[in-house]
Amino acid sequence: MRPAHLLQLTDTHLYADPAGEIYGVNSADSLSRVIEALFADGGPRPDAIVVTGDVSDDLSEGSYRRLRDALGNPGVPVHCLPGNHDDPRLMAELLDSDAFRYCGRAEFQGWALVTVDTHSPGEVRGWISDAGLERLDADLAAVRDRPVVLAMHHPPVPVGSAWLDRSQLGNASQFFGVVRRHRQVKAVLAGHVHQASDEMHGTVRVMTTPSTCAQFAPGSAKFAIDPRPPGYRRLTLHADGRIETEACWLASATPATGPGRPG
Ligand SMILES: [Fe+2]
Repeated sequence: MRPAHLLQLTDTHLYADPAGEIYGVNSADSLSRVIEALFADGGPRPDAIVVTGDVSDDLSEGSYRRLRDALGNPGVPVHCLPGNHDDPRLMAELLDSDAFRYCGRAEFQGWALVTVDTHSPGEVRGWISDAGLERLDADLAAVRDRPVVLAMHHPPVPVGSAWLDRSQLGNASQFFGVVRRHRQVKAVLAGHVHQASDEMHGTVRVMTTPSTCAQFAPGSAKFAIDPRPPGYRRLTLHADGRIETEACWLASATPATGPGRPG
């Protein structure tokens, strides 16, 4: 069986207003440039795209429609899950038809993708509800022995930036308690921290991915912008459970600037 190919986009921070900017970066323009690069960089055609939250920055219907318009009909499923900046009700209404799927799970080329909702109303940090933990357990039981990639907004482990690590997944120990019951979980893909990281946590590989707009400086104790350009992540998932992956940044873009606020 050929390997599965997965693309991750994260933290698009879109606005209803096409001129909307985050840290001095026009998020609609930078997403368009990322999507152009995805399909022009000579990489394999993806089996699925996953968008790991903070799709919106202004909680507007227009921001969610902008994601649909930007991706058009990519010919593969686009799995979307909420971040702290999102409105889950609006996302479920606007991003669960045609190619777009809101949360849930998917199977392709022998692998499974399972999404986890870490949105906690009114909070920046992540939290998985009791119902969410039960759903995760049931989803992992349902995919049986297929190797699994979990996708979620908030990382379940620190990335080494104190100001961001305060808003990681709050109940990570409960999350890993469920994951440990399902040894086929190979990896976790997260967003939120607007930077790339890739570490093993026990037997699970935990990765974060650059935002499609502005980045935060890795290893910084306090808020700090990283001038690196917009990015995304490619993954090649082999039948034997191996994962090849790279975080990719566009060749050039207007560097991010602007005042601080939590990601
Ligand atoms: Fe974000």
